[in-house]
Amino acid sequence: MSNPATPPVVGVLDEPAPLTFPPGFLWGAATAAYQIEGAAAEGGRTPSIWDTFSHTEGKTVAGHTGDVACDHYHRLTDDVRLMAELGLKSYRFSVSWPRVQPGGSGPANAEGLDFYRRLIDELLANGIEPWLTLYHWDLPQELEEAGGWPARDTAARFADYTQLVADALGDRVKYWTTLNEPWCSAFLGYGSGVHAPGRSDGAAAVHAGHHLMLGHGLAVQALRAARPDAQLGVTVNLYPVNPASDSPADVDAARRIDGLANRFFLDPLLRGEYPADLVADLAKVTDFGHVRDGDLATIATPLDVVGVNYYSRHVVAAPVPGEEPEQYWRAPSSWPGSEDVRFVTRGFPVTDMGWEIDAPGLVETLRRVHEEYTDLPLYVTENGSAFVDAVVDGQVDDADRLAYFDAHLRAAHEAISVGVPLRGYFAWSLMDNFEWAWGYTKRFGMIHVDYDSQIRIPKSSARWYAEVIRRNGLAAQ
Ligand code: FCB
Repeated sequence: MSNPATPPVVGVLDEPAPLTFPPGFLWGAATAAYQIEGAAAEGGRTPSIWDTFSHTEGKTVAGHTGDVACDHYHRLTDDVRLMAELGLKSYRFSVSWPRVQPGGSGPANAEGLDFYRRLIDELLANGIEPWLTLYHWDLPQELEEAGGWPARDTAARFADYTQLVADALGDRVKYWTTLNEPWCSAFLGYGSGVHAPGRSDGAAAVHAGHHLMLGHGLAVQALRAARPDAQLGVTVNLYPVNPASDSPADVDAARRIDGLANRFFLDPLLRGEYPADLVADLAKVTDFGHVRDGDLATIATPLDVVGVNYYSRHVVAAPVPGEEPEQYWRAPSSWPGSEDVRFVTRGFPVTDMGWEIDAPGLVETLRRVHEEYTDLPLYVTENGSAFVDAVVDGQVDDADRLAYFDAHLRAAHEAISVGVPLRGYFAWSLMDNFEWAWGYTKRFGMIHVDYDSQIRIPKSSARWYAEVIRRNGLAAQ
């Protein structure tokens, strides 16, 4: 027979369709300055709160610091080559404030800016869209000594720094994120103190959250004036929060935690107001006297995009008299005014961070932002998982991490199919790195890093992700 028969129609219809993403979907990977750069004392860089914190005994696992990290400062060309091999369309990185403005005030440090110029030029030469985050937690130490984020002036300092970065790099960067995860900066940095600068004071945490958002609003205004064509956004880390039961007490616990974790940021940023119930919950912590007329309008300065970081879900329960709350978070609490709420686990599979794997939570989170808050384009600016990896014959077969990405990308696709304007996805992380208080003990990378030799090995998840990017979607399941 010369001509092969047309395949039977029934067979074709039986094949599950591959999940294709919209044309131009921005496939990326993310990192942050302190987590990868190293070169902590080079090129005129001065210490940030993370240098001080990580060098303070007992603050990070095994005393790990970001002094060397992935040595990316010296290896940017090789690292961009790895990104190009993955076929990344975009790379989300952060600028280290004390590298480009040592001490947090005064003129720019040309040598620091040059590093980012070289990085951006290298990205552009490889067809990779740079996505610049201005603040991924590395406040110059001097500004902490002047009061840190609980002090109002830090917001003005952040706007100055933004201006300086916009002037220097604005001609080559289209996408800008002001803050990464202000909840972590405020409530882990100043509430529980498990992150830098390690203060434990509920009121300071709430004030820090406000001044971070004020700094964001001022920064957006500065950027908008300097670069009218840029795409400006902020990145918040969001969690669905569910009550452990439908008892009114558990439902109220969920309302409170949702207020602190999500609405504390979403409502001011996207609606220009603090939720009334949150203000009431926090009455014993602060009277909100730190909020001045006009602040909320500044905070709600219009954006072009919203970034969402998604890792897991919170399930919470009311306090049980006489029973200690389950210490999912190390004491003192990251939840001012709601310290007694219990965080419960459901027995789901967990990552190496102990975070329950809950891909449907990503659909819920994206839908909520879109349906309750904004029509703006959304981007998943971080999503990923830590697992223990083994290097065997020079290979890392990270099937668990690959499965996590796969499940969450299917969730992202589902969100798009129900109408969420999701325009891109950034895997956390491009490579293993300094995971804050956990030091180098948690590996989130698609690329394995041997911290002694600095040898990089793309894991199975990296090769799989390259294929996802190449076909702009996932194979049928
Ligand atoms: C996020 C941070 C990022 C990384 C991941 C695991 O909260 O933005 O730097 O640590 O968690």
